[in-house]
Amino acid sequence: MCGIIGVTCNPSANAPTRASIIITKALKSLEYRGYDSVGIALIDPSSGKLIVKKSDGMLDKVSKEYGFEGTPGFVGIGHTRWATHGPPTQINAHPHTDCKEEIAIVHNGIVKNFLELKKDLASKGHSFKSETDTEIVAHLLEELSNRNNDFFNALKRAISMVEGSYAIAVITKKEPDKIFFARKESPLIVGLSKNLNLLASDIPAMLDYTSSFIPLSDGEVGWISPSDVHIENLNGEIIDTKKRIVTVDWKSDMVRKSGYPHFMIKEIHEQPQVLKNTYDGLMSDDILDRAADVLASGERIFVTAAGTSYHASLILKLFIERLTGRIVYPFIASEYRVVENLAHKGDVIIAVSQSGETIDTMKGLRAFKARGAIAMSITNVMGSTIGRESDFTIPMRAGPEIGVAATKTFLTQTLVASLLSIKLASKLGKIGMDEEKTMLSELADAGRVAGEAISMTEGVVKSMAERIHAVQNMYFLGRGLGVPLSYEAALKLKEISYIHAEAYPAGESKHGPIALVEQGFPVFFIVTSEMVSELEGNIAEMNARGAMTVAIAPFKLKERLGTKAIIAVPDAGNMLEPYSLTPPFQLLAYYTAVRRGHDPDRPRNLAKTVTVE
Ligand code: M6R
Repeated sequence: MCGIIGVTCNPSANAPTRASIIITKALKSLEYRGYDSVGIALIDPSSGKLIVKKSDGMLDKVSKEYGFEGTPGFVGIGHTRWATHGPPTQINAHPHTDCKEEIAIVHNGIVKNFLELKKDLASKGHSFKSETDTEIVAHLLEELSNRNNDFFNALKRAISMVEGSYAIAVITKKEPDKIFFARKESPLIVGLSKNLNLLASDIPAMLDYTSSFIPLSDGEVGWISPSDVHIENLNGEIIDTKKRIVTVDWKSDMVRKSGYPHFMIKEIHEQPQVLKNTYDGLMSDDILDRAADVLASGERIFVTAAGTSYHASLILKLFIERLTGRIVYPFIASEYRVVENLAHKGDVIIAVSQSGETIDTMKGLRAFKARGAIAMSITNVMGSTIGRESDFTIPMRAGPEIGVAATKTFLTQTLVASLLSIKLASKLGKIGMDEEKTMLSELADAGRVAGEAISMTEGVVKSMAERIHAVQNMYFLGRGLGVPLSYEAALKLKEISYIHAEAYPAGESKHGPIALVEQGFPVFFIVTSEMVSELEGNIAEMNARGAMTVAIAPFKLKERLGTKAIIAVPDAGNMLEPYSLTPPFQLLAYYTAVRRGHDPDRPRNLAKTVTVE
């Protein structure tokens, strides 16, 4: 999705090109969100005019061609565009300007009523250069600020007329030291630093300059100058910004590749350490006990998420149901409208989201909350919208995840799910204190198991990627815990290698999918230590049809399964099996994508965080 950065520097303490250098660097770190065009706008300190440089294409090329970094100015905005209205062209790239070129705006989101606004503005003499919805807002601001000299009031009025979702940052010649902003449904965060303030779509873009942030809430509007921050809410109340500051312990080197060729492989290798951080963090706190109390006293438990987070939600369902006997109702976040009317007071809704900004998950959570459900979330980003809007938040502590393909956050979500299920089982009296202690201490090994799985399988997986890189279709099959893991394996492979991969419960494969299987068709089995004999039957069925069967399976089952190839992982207890079985399929997706010549960090058409419906 689009990325926004804004920087306002104190002229007496900063060089005239510092803002453009900061903006360009921040745009680099916003690249992971997915984009097709890029641009910047600054106010030239000598002429007072707006300088806009933008084009379709990747940052390195566009920035070099247009000289982004040498652009003078103490105040500026930048943008990475992920096209929605109008194709990726130079004209459609952000920033967009008004008729007089005095206002420049960048925007993430969708202005739903832009055609209506455009018609009205055209009748008042405005002419438009691009096909975007965003440009309309620049002209609307021009129109309203012409009538009223107060630019901030014009912004508030404009916002009241715009329907849809937006995070916007605006600069104007009329108030050249400020960046104006507004937020509804798309993330926007203020960064506080010495002699400069920042504004960005996410925290990693600002980590080089600060660890203090103010995440903005829906309906908030305001401005930043080098030394001040002003925020108002929908009712015009001024927000006490000091009370809203959050400090993060993320460091800027966490968002660098540190010698790895891609973020994805770095993040796969970080799993042993982050799982330890997650475990230690949760065990040194009473947060899981409190969360389990909420679940134990709640009537029904719903869980919602998208993509990889949804697969972790299925694991949460499985563990809670197995350990407590209580039913958990998962639903895909974007389908929340189908089930929202089921929610009522006393229910608990758990939103699982790495970013805490996924629009579908946010809306699902809000819909249930509006009907009286208690809102709980499992998120990775401190101060994210989903976290702030929840009555109760459990942090994943995975550190920043930059690769578009979720890896370390899947396993940390899984670890949170496992620990929470054990705590709930104990609260409900389904397990005794000794059993709780044993199970919790078993999970202290999650990181170690993931580390061993990586070292044990990376070489084999590389050769396997060589074997499968040219295939067009494949299946992942499993039973029990192997089912959500298979869904995740298929998603990983699909999203970065562009091989069509489907996942099914192994038994279900006979009810249709097996029709596709012919000589050499790859079928991967994710084998846990449960329902093994049933899986053996499924493997035999696939072998009989000439499939290229491969098992990702515990070492102890190596001789037994009968697949044509095996990727053996460390033997581990059932609750630890996600940590042994997941790294090999993440590595498989990674090495296959690389072998096929794709950049795993920047899969086509995808964005790290989906902020539009
Ligand atoms: O930030 P979230 O966890 O809410 O994101 C949900 C999905 O968009 C995300 O998991 C997506 O499926 C990943 N690209 C998967 O690798």
